[in-house]
Amino acid sequence: MTGRFLTVEGIDGAGKSSHLAALSEAVRSRGAEVVMTREPGGTPLGEKLRGLVLHDAMDGVTEALLMFAARREHLVQVIEPALARGAWVVCDRFSDATYAYQCGGRGLDRAVFAQLEALVHPERQPDATFLFDLDPGVAAARQRAQRREPDRFEREAEAFFGRVRDAYLERARTHAKRFHVIDASTPLEAVRASLMAAFARACP
Ligand code: TYD
Repeated sequence: MTGRFLTVEGIDGAGKSSHLAALSEAVRSRGAEVVMTREPGGTPLGEKLRGLVLHDAMDGVTEALLMFAARREHLVQVIEPALARGAWVVCDRFSDATYAYQCGGRGLDRAVFAQLEALVHPERQPDATFLFDLDPGVAAARQRAQRREPDRFEREAEAFFGRVRDAYLERARTHAKRFHVIDASTPLEAVRASLMAAFARACP
């Protein structure tokens, strides 16, 4: 059995986390081993870097470098070995998040992003990416309802998330075969149904 690399993306508050378990379950029901993981993070070093990028103030290029540093560890230690043994990897965010947040949100040069991507994962791209798309105003309201202490990204203004969303949609257009855009504004059950339909199309 060949492993597959599936990623889930979206702006903060789009609700992707609530659907990750359902996606993993759908994969498992086909009899495959599933590795559920996340970025930044997924390894002991990656989780330490996650703590830094989510909570410590830093320059935008530094932020992008730390995202890719965590990603490199994650690929070498977790993602590539899992795919090599035929497991399916379901990853909460990957390089599309760097494109959206660091390029779209913070203004990192897209050429610099492309260089880092080529250095860190020259061959590897997700087999399918599920993008939960939602208006930043609606996402912010959902986020506030959670009532936990917001991290450095979650504290950004709505305009920042507007740019992140636009960059995600731009990336979805340029990688149209890999991306599945899911309308996250509908009720939870409808979002789940759209995700399951997209999964069936992506992995027939
Ligand atoms: P997120 O995945 O939303 O986790 P939680 O549900 O626990 O808040 O948080 C990760 C944050 O990191 C999110 O705001 C997006 C940001 N991020 C980037 O800016 N660039 C990246 O490359 C990645 C992977 C994440």
